[in-house]
Amino acid sequence: MESHPYQLSATSAMVLLWAKDEIYQTGYAKQYLDNVDLEAGHPLRLECEKAWDHCHEILRNRKHTIFKLIENNLNKTHQLIILASGLDPLALKVLDINSETKIFEIDICNMDVKQKMYDSILPQHLSDQITLISSDITSKDVHRKLAQANYDNTIPTIIIAEGITYYVSNNFLWKIMANFQTKSHHNMVIMDYLIPPSQMNTNNAIIMTQIFGLLSTKLELDLITLLDYESISSQVNQLNGTMKTRFKMCDMELDRIGTNHFFDTQSYPGQVSGVEVCHFDI
Ligand SMILES: C[S@@+](CC[C@H](N)C(=O)[O-])C[C@H]1O[C@@H](n2cnc3c(N)ncnc32)[C@H](O)[C@@H]1O
Repeated sequence: MESHPYQLSATSAMVLLWAKDEIYQTGYAKQYLDNVDLEAGHPLRLECEKAWDHCHEILRNRKHTIFKLIENNLNKTHQLIILASGLDPLALKVLDINSETKIFEIDICNMDVKQKMYDSILPQHLSDQITLISSDITSKDVHRKLAQANYDNTIPTIIIAEGITYYVSNNFLWKIMANFQTKSHHNMVIMDYLIPPSQMNTNNAIIMTQIFGLLSTKLELDLITLLDYESISSQVNQLNGTMKTRFKMCDMELDRIGTNHFFDTQSYPGQVSGVEVCHFDI
């Protein structure tokens, strides 16, 4: 039997289980995930799927959309910052399409484990492209650490905030974004967020509250930050930024599978998902 040296928490393992089956099926991302023991994610996966059988569709639609936005906007001058990257192998999938991208991943934990995993599978020229930074993204230290890692704030950068806006307060989120503000608006932020249950229909609000309730218990969180497009637009305006696109779950699904199956706005008004993705320039 193959040995899987790296084990992780139930929530991280569940997310990677959902992503592995479709999003990370090729290249170094697949090789990386083959080395991770995802067993710990199975019980939580069953619990979430009890709330709604097709929960994984939300995550896959989100990951598909975020990657497509990166792919469509990445060029050779770009740098990529992945805030709160955790153990997700997005960076490896990006290097598959552009091996010259300079990537900075930041997370409060597991960066040492991730470094070992990268070292065990990546050739030197690719591992040189990724710098892993252990830091709280809400701390002032982040920018010092980025500078130390040769992040160049004069060239265009794509900043990914995936799976993180739920866990930081609104106040901190916009302080973090303000640090990436540029005079020439050459930075692009791609982020996902959970809309307030009051904006979902009752059924969907119950399901999403159940799923996020399970996750916040597992993660011992007191608060899940909710955002909506209007409040994001207003904050981006204050940073002199420009909103670019908004993807509701039905838009993401249509783009990923070519049809609306679970997120058809006519059959399922309000959608069984309050997760959206947007991108803006700052
Ligand atoms: C749900 S995971 C998302 C991982 C990955 N971005 C994805 O979407 O698959 C949330 C990650 O946020 C990290 N995190 C939470 N609060 C953080 C903070 N203040 N600073 C840095 N990382 C943080 C956690 O360690 C965890 O890896």
